[in-house]
Amino acid sequence: MRILVLNGPNLNLLGRREPDVYGSVTLKDINESLLFLAGELDVDLEFYQSNHEGDLVDKLHAVMGECSAVVFNPGAFTHYSYALRDAVTTIGIPVIEVHLSNIHARKEFRHLSVIAPVAAGQIVGLGPQGYLLGLQAAVALARDAVMADGLASAE
Ligand code: DQA
Repeated sequence: MRILVLNGPNLNLLGRREPDVYGSVTLKDINESLLFLAGELDVDLEFYQSNHEGDLVDKLHAVMGECSAVVFNPGAFTHYSYALRDAVTTIGIPVIEVHLSNIHARKEFRHLSVIAPVAAGQIVGLGPQGYLLGLQAAVALARDAVMADGLASAE
């Protein structure tokens, strides 16, 4: 089983970017801790980060049939990208939305996520830990889907 870990704009600068809001942990650190957890969960990970909306849409399309779930921090695109929302709907696999900060406790424009209604779930405000919880949820949901498929084809 393969899971995509997808990060949107400015998340490449984690560790240096507004450390008072996002902390001092880098994306590389987060990805290393995810790899460790993936080993325990016995799943493969694919990592992708882009500052460009279309690249993120293309990546979601590219993993159709390859990955069983996505852990996704869409960055600022969270708040207005209908293209990413449509891509999440289109691919038909569970997408867990993750935010390091508690978007609901920040400026009003960050309260709305256009991704949340089509995501399997949303994890906010737990810092890097949110990605680890997101991976656990993604794997659990993907395994549930495999079980449900197995049961359906046995009927
Ligand atoms: C973020 C929250 C977004 O509002 C912001 O634009 C980001 C990071 C988070 O992880 O807390 O880039 O997604």
